[in-house]
Amino acid sequence: IRVLFATSEVYPLVKTGGLADVSASLPEALCRLQYDVQILLPGYPAAIKAAREAGSRQKSRFRVGQYEVSLWQTRLPGTAVTLWLVDCPPLFERAGNPYQNEKGQDWWDNAHRFELFGKVGAMMAVGEAGLGWRPDLVHCNDWQTGLIPVFLEHYPNRPGTVFTIHNLAYQGLFPHETFRSLGLPDSLWNMHQLEFYGQLSFIKGGLVFSDRITTVSPGYAQEIQTPEFGNGLDGVLRQRQQYLTGILNGIDTRVWNPEEDPQLAFHYGADYLENKAQCRASLERELGLDVSGGPLLGFIGRLVEQKGVDWLIAVIPELLERGCQFALLGSGETVYEEALKALARQWPGQMSLTLGYDEGLSHRITAGCDIFLMPSRFEPCGLNQMYSLRYGTVPVVHAVGGLSDTVIDPQETGFGKANGFRFKDASERALLAAVDRALKHFRNRKSWRQLQRNGMVADYSWKKRARNYGDLYLDVLKERENQ
Ligand code: ADP
Ligand code: GLC
Repeated sequence: IRVLFATSEVYPLVKTGGLADVSASLPEALCRLQYDVQILLPGYPAAIKAAREAGSRQKSRFRVGQYEVSLWQTRLPGTAVTLWLVDCPPLFERAGNPYQNEKGQDWWDNAHRFELFGKVGAMMAVGEAGLGWRPDLVHCNDWQTGLIPVFLEHYPNRPGTVFTIHNLAYQGLFPHETFRSLGLPDSLWNMHQLEFYGQLSFIKGGLVFSDRITTVSPGYAQEIQTPEFGNGLDGVLRQRQQYLTGILNGIDTRVWNPEEDPQLAFHYGADYLENKAQCRASLERELGLDVSGGPLLGFIGRLVEQKGVDWLIAVIPELLERGCQFALLGSGETVYEEALKALARQWPGQMSLTLGYDEGLSHRITAGCDIFLMPSRFEPCGLNQMYSLRYGTVPVVHAVGGLSDTVIDPQETGFGKANGFRFKDASERALLAAVDRALKHFRNRKSWRQLQRNGMVADYSWKKRARNYGDLYLDVLKERENQ
């Protein structure tokens, strides 16, 4: 089966979050299962640069509306996976991240940028991009690819389409004038198709027009059908319920492996955990924390409401007073950054804050901490809790979405199966109570070892999980043959 995997970010070329990790590791796992999965990505400067350095070339050149577009064929660095880049300098050759300028403002023409990306995806899908390769199925990811199934709708020989929701909170909403300027047919402007309360919704294109919808955990697949987590789209999702499934994300177990992680000075595994203490001590030295203080708690992530950063900020002082240490790495909204800075100033030696994006440090925090906190308000899947589990760093999480599906609390199963702690109420009190439970067990070496071990030996790889996507692709193709 040939699959075009369309995405707006991919590790290690461009990454703002977990989408990039998944967009690299899932296609690679599918390729290992003998699927011919090829990735399509906008030609951001970092990606074009990597392609040039790899000696890759432009394969075809054509016009899309007013734009001259060329397609580069290269490989995702470090893998055998084919990567196509949509090179269109006026839209993609920009500093900043894929969606925003250096000041953190959305690009004014995001709708046009991702409309063009979608058009090129659709052209490739129906063999109109001048390539020898044509997919049986297009796998779209998040709102940036939401128009692909829309463009494909009227092609009788179109490939199958799967749309994966990585985060329903980001929808690609634009004013009606933008809809008109894109030149999409007026007939699409209604609440059952692209209109969402008076705005154009890219994600609705994916939800309404694709053959199948998936999301990144079974828990989130259920949650998004309720008003509480549906972001106004729960009705659409309930209507398409029979086409919606949740498939848990996997992780790249080669990039995230405490036994040979090149970012770590000391290595360890489930049966030889002694060196984890060395990782901790060197992390404390690196961050200027008092070496061998109390339990070391970690957090890595975008500093936004989704991640429950305000709850974290509310409980940190109490936890520091009890002798805990904190290592925080993230960047995001100014209010959160400022509040965290104030705490770090007030508690030197006990609380360390690194603002910005740091891949290496994220590995060292994952390895060096005792406990990892993920108090997310909602979490489609979440990768950091799986990284922590694999590194013997016990997670404390809010019981939502993928966090619920991966973290097992001893209160529910006993220590035989448990690997972390979770809290149900959406509140800082509940978070604090769960951390307190974790701290209590931390003092009991034997049960703590059991938690760490249970987390470390479980399988979080894509091996089995990628097969679920493979089966889904087959279903779609069979269904289309019968039409
Ligand atoms: P989301 O996609 O919602 O941000 P995920 O848990 O799926 O959440 O993935 C986040 C990814 O981004 C992880 O790989 C995490 O380690 C990484 N990450 C987030 N913030 C930072 C940061 N400041 N520095 C390094 N890595 C980060
Ligand atoms: C999104 C979600 C996160 C998920 C990631 C990859 O960014 O917020 O929970 O793990 O996508 O699917």
